[in-house]
Parts: sequence; structure tokens; C-alpha cells
Amino acid sequence: MILVSGATGNVGHNVVTQLLEAGEKVRAIARNPERLSFPPEVEVLRADLTEPESLPAALAGVERAFLFPVPGATEGFLAQGKDLRQVVLLSSISVDDEEENSIGLMHLAHERALAASGLKWTFVRPGGFMTNDLAWVPGVKAGVVRAPFGAAAQASVDERDIAAVVAQALLDEAHAGQIYRLSGPESLTVAQRVRIIGDVLGQEVRFEEQDPAEARRQMVTYMPEPIVDTLLSTFEGLVGTTAPVLPDVERVTGRPPFTYASWVAHHAADFR
Ligand SMILES: NC(=O)c1ccc[n+]([C@@H]2O[C@H](COP(=O)([O-])OP(=O)(O)OC[C@H]3O[C@@H](n4cnc5c(N)ncnc54)[C@H](OP(=O)(O)O)[C@@H]3O)[C@@H](O)[C@H]2O)c1
Repeated sequence: MILVSGATGNVGHNVVTQLLEAGEKVRAIARNPERLSFPPEVEVLRADLTEPESLPAALAGVERAFLFPVPGATEGFLAQGKDLRQVVLLSSISVDDEEENSIGLMHLAHERALAASGLKWTFVRPGGFMTNDLAWVPGVKAGVVRAPFGAAAQASVDERDIAAVVAQALLDEAHAGQIYRLSGPESLTVAQRVRIIGDVLGQEVRFEEQDPAEARRQMVTYMPEPIVDTLLSTFEGLVGTTAPVLPDVERVTGRPPFTYASWVAHHAADFR
């Protein structure tokens, strides 16, 4: 049995689907699992990683787990998961940043806890998710996307690729002790991504540069301030650069990562 936490999330629900396709028995946990309907063969359990009393039922009979990094919850989970053969952790490429920042430090704490647990581990460190651009849905519908740092380049990664690497790591213990850094297949600026969205949907979508101060005021309404400041300074530093394209999705899955256009097509219903 494989436990998938964060199972209603962007990455987690794709991990569930891909493990099922590989013929594995899967238990999916989240605090609100009814948010997604899973195929009937998935065992769905309501559990909160920050509530230790909800974990024995989640971990019963489980051999391997995909761990979603909930702040403050990893040590408690690992303390109860001593019998696990292997844990694959969702982390972040920010751990590799030269300058210390709140996102990297948060993920590093989860990695260190897992490494110290004595369990077999795999760290999956994705760069920016393509799903972040779903924040542009209202703009796309209105025909104009406003965002700061339009010339900032990222090789953002499709959630299906992150999940594919996680699933491979869970299916083969040869991935234990490995750190995978994930990107998509192409470096694209914000403005280029907006253009691709319009092209794939076949509709007019304009990009408009937004004042970073205005973006900050909006972002702090739904994200902690240190995270917002880290993100905005990261994006500013990406202006005029070319983002590195990393080999690990292809190395682990044996196929190239999904393009941005393919991701938009996959989410066309969300944008419309
Ligand atoms: N976005 C990026 O560009 C990026 C890049 C690199 C790394 N990351 C990292 O990736 C993670 C986000 O992944 P994602 O997009 O797949 O997440 P997501 O879509 O926001 O999903 C979060 C999942 O975790 C579950 N969850 C949250 N708190 C929980 C708790 N206390 N107990 C049990 N389940 C809980 C949620 O379900 P319930 O709410 O129902 O519990 C949901 O299934 C973050 O750690 C982020 O730092 C993101």
C-alpha cells in the first residue's frame, strides 16, 4: 500500500492517478478529500498531518509514502511512520538558491527531518509550477493578464511531470537517496506564456506590465508576506535571464517533460 498525502493537490492527485495506472494499491489523504472524486479503487481517508491522532489509521499497512510538506508536521509524521520502507518528499528548487530565503529554508527543514529519520528518502525539488499561472484565469477570461516582471524567464514544470517523478521514485527503491531537480522543457518569459495561452485557446489575450507594489498588495491577501517578498525578488532577478532546463524529468521518466502549450491545452477548460 502506498500513502499519498496532499492527495487533492496539484501534484498529489496526479500521483494518485499515476500509481493507480501502475497497478498499485493507493491510500489518499487530505483534510477535505471530498474536494476531488477518486476512482473507487482508491482508499480515501480524511487525515490532517498536523493532527497526530489522525495518522495511525492513515499509516496502517503502508509501505511507502508521498509526503506533502505541511509546515511543522513532518517530524510528527515520521515519528509515527518508522516502519515505512521509503518516503518521497515534495520539496523545492529554492533549497538550492545561493541566497537564503523563506521558501528554501522551509523546504530544507522538511528534507533535514526526513534525512535524519533513518528512513529511505527521495527529495523531489521542482522549480516554478505551471499551475501558478492558473492565477491568470480571470485575466485570460477578460482578455488582459496583468503581472509584474513580464520579462522574467522560468522553465516552469507541469504538475503531471512532478507527479511522474514522484511515482517512479515510489515504484523503484533504486531512487532512494536521490535528489531530483525538475523543470519544464523551455525557458519562457511571463509575456511569452501569456501569448501561448491566447494561441492555444484561440483567443485574444494581452499582457500588461503590473507595478510590483500593486502585485504585492494583492498577493499578501492570500500568501504570507515573507513568501510574497521572496517570490517577487526572485521574479525580479529572473528578468532578462534564460532559465536552465533540467534533465531529471526525462532521466527518471524516460520521456521529455510536457511543454507549456501542452499544459495550457490540458487546462483549457479552467481558462475558459
Ligand atoms: N507553486 C510552485 O511554483 C512550487 C514550486 C516548488 C515547490 N512548491 C511546493 O509545492 C507545494 C505545493 O504543492 P501543490 O501545488 O500540489 O499543493 P496544493 O495544490 O496547494 O495542495 C495541497 C495539498 O495538501 C493538502 N493539505 C494541506 N494541509 C494539510 C494538512 N495539514 N494535512 C493533510 N493534508 C494537507 C491539501 O488538501 P486539504 O486542504 O484538503 O488538506 C492538498 O491536497 C508547496 O509546499 C510549495 O512550497 C511549489
